[in-house]
Amino acid sequence: MTIQENFNLRTYNTFGINASCKLFTEVKNSDDIEEIIMSRYFQNNPNLILGGGSNILFTKDFDGLVIKNSLKGIEVVLDEKDYVLVKVCAGEVWHSFVLWCIEHHYAGVENLSLIPGLVGASPMQNIGAYGAEIKDLCESVEAVELSSGNKFSFSNSDCEFGYRESVFKRKLKNQFLITSVTYKLNKIPHFNVNYGDIKSTLADMNVHELSLKAVSDAVIKIRSTKLPDPKQLGNAGSFFKNPVVAKNLVDKLLLKYPVMPNYPQENGVKVPAGWLIEQCGWKGKVFGNTGSHKSQALVLVNYGNATGNEIYNLALEIKQSVKEKFGIDIEPEVNLV
Ligand code: FAD
Ligand code: EPU
Repeated sequence: MTIQENFNLRTYNTFGINASCKLFTEVKNSDDIEEIIMSRYFQNNPNLILGGGSNILFTKDFDGLVIKNSLKGIEVVLDEKDYVLVKVCAGEVWHSFVLWCIEHHYAGVENLSLIPGLVGASPMQNIGAYGAEIKDLCESVEAVELSSGNKFSFSNSDCEFGYRESVFKRKLKNQFLITSVTYKLNKIPHFNVNYGDIKSTLADMNVHELSLKAVSDAVIKIRSTKLPDPKQLGNAGSFFKNPVVAKNLVDKLLLKYPVMPNYPQENGVKVPAGWLIEQCGWKGKVFGNTGSHKSQALVLVNYGNATGNEIYNLALEIKQSVKEKFGIDIEPEVNLV
């Protein structure tokens, strides 16, 4: 076990915030996990599990121990006629796993291509894009309880998945280190190309026969035009979640804003936060080192030297303006530290 002191996290978060932590360690196997949680470094300090840092905003230095998850390995644990169960260690890069599935002709994750981050955060966040969500693919989650070192397996229903939510973000927040995720993937693809621009992008690409690779390439193409690449411009994807609003408020707003996009759900109506933020005039505006991106108002960016607080303060102003103009509360998707 190597412990580094006063460790800079700038290259460990996709916002590129120049924050540091008091102590830093990396776990590569279960012995490392056992050793660290038995140690005084863990027991005498607050701790934070870090994956790819693509959904975190450091608003200050972290006065504790950061545990970087670097657990690697992919294994087919059940191979049936129509499906496979694949157990993936939490430190695998999500998009590399998607490419591995495409290569092996396992279907289910292709619409989730190019989402940054590691496998371990995928159930935590219930990542989703282009009509697919982890909750529909996750068979189980294996995790270590930090207080006891005991290993637990969570079934899909134990995870209490919701839109960008899970039990690990709510009741069990900061209590478990997710070590692996087992996904159920189909050998016979059920292509889902109805969402957004996938069909028209496939047509532009002259795709006449659907394949997992073609759908993945189309999703990658769409994402690359809409979302800034964190390697070039610091960001964490959508800063806010899309709010689910009471139907009577949406009906009232539609009288005033008839073009407002809205998507009925079981518990209300989803309204895109990007549209609300654009209507409040934030899209493409630059404020010092930060701003709302010119192609996607929902993405807040770091133009180079923003502090976490600058970005957080902009987010608060945006939140307030959306509340004032539309009476709608928008909540961060990004995890604030
Ligand atoms: P981190 O940012 O490192 O961590 C996120 C949270 O999970 C933290 O609270 C952390 O403590 C916790 N955590 C991480 N790993 C573990 C673990 N092993 N055990 C316990 N807790 C853990 N998300 C989507 O859903 N859909 C998108 O389309 C999408 N697009 C994006 C596009 C861009 C350009 C960017 C930058 C981000 C995007 N995101 C999207 C958000 C992000 O990629 C996902 O939330 C991703 O799952 C975060 O993974 P990570 O490993 O970087 O997690
Ligand atoms: N819109 C605007 N202005 C903008 C941005 C969006 O009017 O600046 C409108 C669009 O015209 C469209 C609607 O909002 O009518 C939805 O936009 P988009 O398809 O770009 O998707 P989104 O709702 O903004 C969500 C996820 C993304 C995911 C995409 C694709 C959330 C919070 N975000 O974005 O996930 O990739 O759908 O499925 O649910 C993330 O979680 O970090 C993320 C990037």
